Amino acid sequence: MIDLDALERDLLGQIEQAGDEAALEALRVAALGKKGSVSELLKTLGAMTPDERRERGPLINGLRDRLQGAILAKRETLAEAALDARLAAERIDVTLPLREAPETRGRIHPISQVIEEITAIFSDLGFSVAEGPDIETDELNFTALNFPEGHPAREMHDTFFLRPDNFGKRKLLRTHTSPVQVRTMRAKQPPIRVIMPGRTYRHDSDQTHTPMFHQVEGLVIDRSANIANLKWVLESFCRAFFEVDSVTMRFRPSFFPFTEPSAEVDIQCSRKDGELRFGEGTDWLEVLGCGMVHPNVLRNGGLDPDQVQGFAFGMGIDRLAMLKYGMPDLRPFFEADVRWLDHYGFRPIDVPSLVGGLTG
Ligand code: DAH
Repeated sequence: MIDLDALERDLLGQIEQAGDEAALEALRVAALGKKGSVSELLKTLGAMTPDERRERGPLINGLRDRLQGAILAKRETLAEAALDARLAAERIDVTLPLREAPETRGRIHPISQVIEEITAIFSDLGFSVAEGPDIETDELNFTALNFPEGHPAREMHDTFFLRPDNFGKRKLLRTHTSPVQVRTMRAKQPPIRVIMPGRTYRHDSDQTHTPMFHQVEGLVIDRSANIANLKWVLESFCRAFFEVDSVTMRFRPSFFPFTEPSAEVDIQCSRKDGELRFGEGTDWLEVLGCGMVHPNVLRNGGLDPDQVQGFAFGMGIDRLAMLKYGMPDLRPFFEADVRWLDHYGFRPIDVPSLVGGLTG
């Protein structure tokens, strides 16, 4: 006769050991299922004598009930453990920042941002925006700007020339935005107040020079525009652009064929611990070239130097961007590396305006 106590100990031990609900179910089927070991024992009751049955019946039924109870209890424990494990695995830290939605992941390139900033500032000063082509004639890039044929200043520009056309004329990639001055004079009557941002090209490449770069040109022409006005415009611009209350500027005499007199402008800065600051310090940093428009250039633009006069200025946009946003190397500007753009780029909603704040 089978030892019920031993069987019970064995089965209860197995139930206790069951690792998950599937293993437990397998045990249940093996003991209490249709062909299970305990079910088979119950079937033997039918063939017993009434006395035997009276004795064995309660024992086997008791065994079945205890097993059922043990399985039920174990199932609950396993279910709770499974739920705990799942809760731990699917735990969400609601204090983490939201991941950006795909439509806000795009970034505005610092150059575009700075052009927007420059445009916002000069619009506020009453300037409009004009543009010219990247491929320019030799005449507009040099001759009309008072660079004499064969003048060494033409060489200083490291020009990219295109192949000559059938008439032997070579176009070029403009070396500066100054030709747009002449285009503007030929297209508009004074008073003229325009800025002319755009791409420019020179055969030059190192940490702070790339063959393609950006300039913004400014031109003011009316009956009385003078150097005092020029200084005020440039100072107002620098204060607004660098977002400081005051800047100290230094006008150094210089030479450009298209302006007379000409000056290069430095702004005062400090360079403590490698960090550049404006409005303080004892260092100087060159930011632009400017001057009074040369009478020859006015004439080449179709204007009468006895009737009108004006001033012009030109600055490097990339350089302004590097200074303002602390970017040490110009080359990554044009490498289209999304990691760089992620770091230095601007969000599409940060549109610069003087009322909203240039840089938010
Ligand atoms: N075109 C000059 C350059 O590329 C910059 C410049 C200087 C522009 C003086 C001006 C100016 O309009 O007046 O180096």
